[in-house]
Amino acid sequence: MSLKDQLDLQRLPRHIAIIMDGNGRWAKERGQDRLYGHHQGVESVRDIVEGCAELGIGYLTLYAFSTENWDRPVYEVNGIMELLVTTIRSEVSTLNKNNIRLHVIGDMTMLPPHCRQELEEAKEMTAANTGLGLVMALSYSARWEILQAVRSIAKDAQAGKLNPDEVTPEIWEKYLCTAKLPDPELMIRTSGEHRISNFLLYQLAYAELYFTNTRWPDFRKENLYEAILNYQTRERRFGKTSEQIQQNEEIVS
Ligand code: IPE
Ligand code: IPE
Ligand code: MG
Repeated sequence: MSLKDQLDLQRLPRHIAIIMDGNGRWAKERGQDRLYGHHQGVESVRDIVEGCAELGIGYLTLYAFSTENWDRPVYEVNGIMELLVTTIRSEVSTLNKNNIRLHVIGDMTMLPPHCRQELEEAKEMTAANTGLGLVMALSYSARWEILQAVRSIAKDAQAGKLNPDEVTPEIWEKYLCTAKLPDPELMIRTSGEHRISNFLLYQLAYAELYFTNTRWPDFRKENLYEAILNYQTRERRFGKTSEQIQQNEEIVS
């Protein structure tokens, strides 16, 4: 039985988040420039987006560039930005064909204007699609996101639009970039690093974490199925006891 056939389609995560790591090492291991790794990484993006769309996953968030990545050598940063523009331009028709809607989270003010415009256009052109929500985290970091949410919430309170005593988790979440998205149930990081690197710190509170040594340019649908199968073996307890969870499952089924 193929890995895909082993998946329990009733227990798929609604939202998968991926830290796409290892492009640079993948290229170096082949005696190539780091940018070659980023180019190859686009192939993996295509395959994984298609894989998620085929499975009927609701949202896929891809961490493509962090606010800290701006500190990389200018040559690499420029190469990644160019790759971003050309990829988006060439992929919009495929996104539309597959009913995929593009969302972007991150500090857009940091992006070169032509990148921002390309993203805005792609978002508009895919806005009517109702299938997979593809969320690109670009110039994103969770600490930046939390700080800008705190600033907005403080301004609204100062303007009298919000009573600080009435701030609930639901109201707070509206100030985050991910306001309309469910929290990820599964977070995958490729390339062997076991850290979060400033990704969705608030939203990942109860995500199941999956780490693989596979470098991002080698990550394909089969690797995705493996990650989901592993996720499906986990007992998600949310602070409760195993007995409570099992009892609940019996009542539901
Ligand atoms: C991930 O690959 C892509 C970005 C961060 C833009 P890296 O470029 O971090 O590759 P490694 O981790 O150096 O191998
Ligand atoms: C995290 O990878 C960011 C992205 C994948 C976009 P990094 O390669 O930047 O993270 P660190 O530096 O290893 O923590
Ligand atoms: Mg890295």
